[in-house]
Amino acid sequence: MRTLIVDHPLTATLLTTLRDERTTNPAFRAALRDLTGLLIYEALRDAPVATFPVTTPVAVAQGTRLSHPPLLVPVLRAGLGMVEAASALVPQSRVGFVGIARDEDSHQPVPYMESLPRDLSGVPVFVLDPMLATGGSMLHTLDRLRARGAADITAICVLSAPEGIAALRDSDHPVRLVTAVVDSGLNADAYIVPGLGDAGDRQFGPR
Ligand code: URA
Repeated sequence: MRTLIVDHPLTATLLTTLRDERTTNPAFRAALRDLTGLLIYEALRDAPVATFPVTTPVAVAQGTRLSHPPLLVPVLRAGLGMVEAASALVPQSRVGFVGIARDEDSHQPVPYMESLPRDLSGVPVFVLDPMLATGGSMLHTLDRLRARGAADITAICVLSAPEGIAALRDSDHPVRLVTAVVDSGLNADAYIVPGLGDAGDRQFGPR
C-alpha cells in the first residue's frame, strides 16, 4: 500500500493544536479544517488535469481543471469536520456518506448509514476519517466502495496507528493512505496513543 506522510511545519503546528487537551471545540474544528486542506493538497499533487482556454481581462490564458474530481466520503461522525475544507478546494466533487459507530466493548465498527452513488467505476474516491486506529471502520468503508465498483481509493486520515496501517496493507483493497503522522500504537480501549482523544467529541462535544 502506498503511504504518504505529509510532514511539514504547518501540519506539525496544526497537529499540536489538535492534540492539546486544552483546545476548545471550535478551535479544534478550525485546526482540523486547515489540516485537511493541506492533506487534500498533497493527495491531489499528481491528479490528472485537463486544460482549456480562459480569458483574462488582458488576454487568453491556459486554464486547468481536475480531469476526475474525487468523490468525497466522510465517515460520520468525525469525518464531517473534514468535508468543508475538502469540498472548498475541490468544489466539483460529489459527496457521499458512510455512518459507522463503534462498539465501546468490542471496538468493532457498527455501520448505521450509507449514502453513496450507485456506480463508482472509474471514479476516484477520497475517504475522510481523521483517525485510522484499528482500521475496522476504514475496511468496512472500503468494502462498501468496492461493492460499487471503486478501484482508486485514497484514505485521508490525520492520525494513523501502525495497527490500522497494517490492516489496510493486509487487505486486498486498492487503497492509498495520506496522513499527517503515524503515532505509536493503540491503548487497551483502541484509542491512538498519544493521539488526540475522541475526534468526534473533540469537534462536537461529548455524547
Ligand atoms: N477514534 C478516535 O476518535 N480516536 C482514537 O484515538 C481512535 C479512534
